[in-house]
Amino acid sequence: MERDVKQLIAQMTLEEKASLCSGLDFWHTKPIERLGIPRVMLSDGPHGLRKQEGEGDHLGLGESIRATCFPAACATAASFDEELIEKMGETLGEECQAEDLSVLLGPAVNIKRSPLCGRNFEYFSEDPYLTGKMAAAHIRGVQKWDVGTSLKHFAANNQEYNRMSCSSEVDERTLREIYLPGFEIAVKEAQPKTIMCSYNKINGTFSSENKWLLTDVLRKEWGFEGYVVTDWGAVADRVKGLEAGLDLEMPGSGGENDALIVKAVREGSLDESVLDETLERILKVLFSYVDHRHPEAVFDREADHEKAVQVEKECAVLLKNEGVLPLKKGQSVAYIGEYAEHPRYQGGGSSHINSSKVTSALESARAKGRNVTYVKGFPGDGDVCDEEELQKALAAAAAADVAVIFAGLPDAFESEGYDRDHMRMPDCQNRLIAEVAKVQPNTVVVLHNGSAVECPWAENVAAVLEMYLGGQGVGEAADALLWGEANPCGRLAETFPMKLEDNPSALNFPGDGKKVHYAEGVYVGYRYYEAKKMPVRWAFGHGLSYTEFAYSNVRISAENFGDEDEIGVSVDVTNVGSMAGKEVVQLYVKDCTGTFGRPVKELKGFAKVALEPGETKTVTLTLDARSLSYYDVDLGDWYAPSGKYELLLGHASDDIRLTAEVTFQTRKVLPLEITAATTIGELLGNPVTAQIIGQMMQKATQDERRDISSATQSESDTKMMQSMMMGMPLKSLVSYSVMTVDQLQGLMQMLKAALGQR
Ligand code: BGC
Repeated sequence: MERDVKQLIAQMTLEEKASLCSGLDFWHTKPIERLGIPRVMLSDGPHGLRKQEGEGDHLGLGESIRATCFPAACATAASFDEELIEKMGETLGEECQAEDLSVLLGPAVNIKRSPLCGRNFEYFSEDPYLTGKMAAAHIRGVQKWDVGTSLKHFAANNQEYNRMSCSSEVDERTLREIYLPGFEIAVKEAQPKTIMCSYNKINGTFSSENKWLLTDVLRKEWGFEGYVVTDWGAVADRVKGLEAGLDLEMPGSGGENDALIVKAVREGSLDESVLDETLERILKVLFSYVDHRHPEAVFDREADHEKAVQVEKECAVLLKNEGVLPLKKGQSVAYIGEYAEHPRYQGGGSSHINSSKVTSALESARAKGRNVTYVKGFPGDGDVCDEEELQKALAAAAAADVAVIFAGLPDAFESEGYDRDHMRMPDCQNRLIAEVAKVQPNTVVVLHNGSAVECPWAENVAAVLEMYLGGQGVGEAADALLWGEANPCGRLAETFPMKLEDNPSALNFPGDGKKVHYAEGVYVGYRYYEAKKMPVRWAFGHGLSYTEFAYSNVRISAENFGDEDEIGVSVDVTNVGSMAGKEVVQLYVKDCTGTFGRPVKELKGFAKVALEPGETKTVTLTLDARSLSYYDVDLGDWYAPSGKYELLLGHASDDIRLTAEVTFQTRKVLPLEITAATTIGELLGNPVTAQIIGQMMQKATQDERRDISSATQSESDTKMMQSMMMGMPLKSLVSYSVMTVDQLQGLMQMLKAALGQR
């Protein structure tokens, strides 16, 4: 039964209404007991429950209940596995029901613009499509249990430096194509119960009072039905925020902002209906939880630990392998590095979980009776070279068949609240890896980090396994993957550039503290490296397996398609190796119409398939007009120019196996403003004006032919004439005596009339 929230709102005093617009404390909404409205709890998120008893603190410093720490989004994105993430979400949803949490704050879908963002570990990818798909899966899973999610941080919050006040200066096309689609896809496909607005400003306006963002785009265009909550403390002008579409303020301002709402209504500067609409949204979400409690839900910490291990096994990315992995039974292996014993498995800040249990790779290896020795080698929590430990590590490495170094970033290197200063790993680790590789050719590096790092030793080691911040089961997962009990199947959701300076945001990150200019535009991540033909350490989508996959038989459901059509792209994938494994089929689209400012290619589809040795499966992915489109700001819509597009299928962005070509035909017409500066080329690009200009030019050419014999014109003359003509503004027709001022006026009138302009 749906509650009649309108009827409840009608019974409230103005003060009661305003009171529901902010939190009771850090984690609860306010109750109105006389109307049967209970308080409910919201809690971080995203990859585990950080439920704090009592008033709590939002910085993650205080204790929270023991919970399961699943792999962070940096890892789960690399799974490229929607089903897996949905299942993980289901487990989180059940845990929330068991712990009486109405909303789990996450997932976080900000784009990894720079490897330095301190919170990259909580974010999925540099690619908006992958981000949106993974977030939608997470939301679907959690919300199956009638628990809400909070898609965050909306929007353009891509750094920690001055995140509470800095203005992200981003042009609309870049926002639409890179920074918003993660939210858009998740909203359209999974309808999160809440969205959390970011602290920062966008082009000068705080997200918390940005009507364009919170109402025009989010609700009117995308159809968001839930409520918007502030990031904790993100309110600027409360009343302006309410009018812009901001609903719930968290944690609250001791009633200060509620009083401002009451005052604004009393003074007549805020229409009470705006407040009523906000309450409707808040109460609908509240009761969707309160009226759908699940007494059968249990938080089984043991079982969920196992699930965390299983998820992480699907996320790890095998970046390099010269045959040393998987390790073979009976080999003597030296485990080096403190993360072998105490893995780094989660990041700092609001997502920090008080883990129910953590298992290390060393412990797992010992439990399985593997032939491993262990040397700490370097400290896990800092950057201090310990000569004695280094010597011990070298001796152990030289004495063993294989050396496995468990390396990565210490806690203090990446966290919510601040960005990284550089992209390097601690010097002590880089040095140890380089030295060990000199004495042991079979050196394997296992990485624990939340985002790309520089790997100066990459050429000199035999294998690299990226575990990311893999949650509390990371050690067991690493053990299974290293020893071949599981086959790595993750793919990079971000590029690993050679060095920080190669990153497209390098000159504009993190800005001067007041503004950060997203000057690289849509050229983020692989969109940039490919356009620049820049060598990278490991490309977007890259990831090896212990088996090999062959692609064959690409086919498309139609060669031509239009605005309303969908097109199916199929390919057969075969496991041609000797171990069961999973392939991630990636589909990229390349615009071949010659349109300016488009990346070389963009990810528009993917699917993960499990294949036994020798098995073949057909993978079919679907594309629509949007998959080919860029956002045209003048049109105010997505636009794919008519023409040819290439569909690229493969194992990674730099390992395309098969391609197909389609021809797209659009009925959309770009707007054209007729002024004296409008060029002939622009007029010929518009089907309506092209007719008029075409006729005019035909006549001019005929006249000219009478004067000059075409035989005397060289190819380059013709090309020059044509291109000068295309770039010629209307006003030049007078300058070059093609027509008089009056005739030009007449022509412009005619063109305007044809376009329906005045
Ligand atoms: C973070 C959010 C988090 C909230 C509550 C904020 O500082 O940015 O991601 O959900 O605190 O802890």
